[in-house]
Amino acid sequence: MNEWLKSAAGTRAATAPAAERVRYMAPSGETFDVATPRWRAPDGAPLALTPGPGLSPDRIDSRERSLWRYAAALRVDPDSRVSLGEGWTPLLDGDWHGGAVRFKLEYFAPTGSFKDRGTAVMISYLRSVGVRGILEDSSGNAGASLAAYCAAAGLSCRVLAPATAPAAKVAPIAALGADLCLVEGSRQDVADQALRESESIFYASHNWQPFFLEGTRTLAFELWEQCGFGVPSAIVVPLGYGSNVLGLWLGFKELLDCGAIASLPRIFAVQAANCSAFARPWAEGTDRWEPFEARTTVADGIASIRPVRMPQVLGALRQSGGSLVTVSEAEIAVALRGLLARGLFVEPTAATAAAGCTALRDQGQLAADSAPVVVLTGTGLKAADRVGEILSEIAKCDRERGVRGARCCARPA
Ligand SMILES: Cc1ncc(COP(=O)(O)O)c(C=O)c1O
Repeated sequence: MNEWLKSAAGTRAATAPAAERVRYMAPSGETFDVATPRWRAPDGAPLALTPGPGLSPDRIDSRERSLWRYAAALRVDPDSRVSLGEGWTPLLDGDWHGGAVRFKLEYFAPTGSFKDRGTAVMISYLRSVGVRGILEDSSGNAGASLAAYCAAAGLSCRVLAPATAPAAKVAPIAALGADLCLVEGSRQDVADQALRESESIFYASHNWQPFFLEGTRTLAFELWEQCGFGVPSAIVVPLGYGSNVLGLWLGFKELLDCGAIASLPRIFAVQAANCSAFARPWAEGTDRWEPFEARTTVADGIASIRPVRMPQVLGALRQSGGSLVTVSEAEIAVALRGLLARGLFVEPTAATAAAGCTALRDQGQLAADSAPVVVLTGTGLKAADRVGEILSEIAKCDRERGVRGARCCARPA
């Protein structure tokens, strides 16, 4: 087990007090007081938090219809809580590609994406330690989430986004009162600009700040509770930087370590084949980032070039017994159409999870009788134009197939 994973999920008793002295922890093992906000270690490495306290059913506040029902396991000051009602999303029984599934509707969130879990906890923490203004870079969903929670918390918020980001994704950022700055160039250019600005304003990047993962790990607690305090056999989730993968891993590992569950679910991550930073390291069994050809993808939320916590994400997939799967643009389009046909209005990035489920079933990695959880991470409302274009493209493709008998689109859902 790599050091970060080991230290971030060390064994703890379920009875430990939640507000126990949580500390930032660097990969070197050095720890830092959380009273001083940080977004990375002095040597530039990403930080984790010291192990969480675990959870038991009797410590859940079932009156709370939000992720704050797990407040006993969240290391933030309850008096600084900033909430818009995030978490406690539906788990819906369904069918997919010849078998049962459970769709986890993470797009039922205040700003329409799973990011609200991480943002609510991160902003609560930052406010509690006196941060009054933050900087973020985002291609869309995280920026809208940060803008909303900063508005609720009374914090100023500056968001850098790529000039090419879909208008429907950046409009909410400005509408929610953030100082939106569109940056020319690639997604990496935006991140580089944020790094330069981080000298003068606190950089609350959701990809770096470990309190964001403190929030996304509530997805694991919630699935555990919604499965009758059991463990789903498998979870399929889109992967960009990995805050869902790591949140799931941290949460379930914590439950395992405190004796609340007896095994981990297999975690399957899905990337677009057009832009997969993880594909090569996964296939080669390494942890290192390597340059790769990044082409455009409809799954803009996971088009990540240089993920920050690559070894940790790969370690979590390997240790859970899951895997990484990549899907083509055609497979994403077909999965999106299949979800829409079931009344599930999600964005293309979220549809990659369903496309991944199709591929995993075809490859025999998911047994037909297993009912994996398919995590639907973002609403279609912020991508309605793009969704319409994709449907038109598939319809055109279907027409051509009818005329020429050509095989154009991939596996039906
Ligand atoms: C809708 C949606 N799903 C999934 C992801 C991927 O999340 P992560 O980068 O934490 O892996 C994103 C990231 O922006 C997203 O917007």
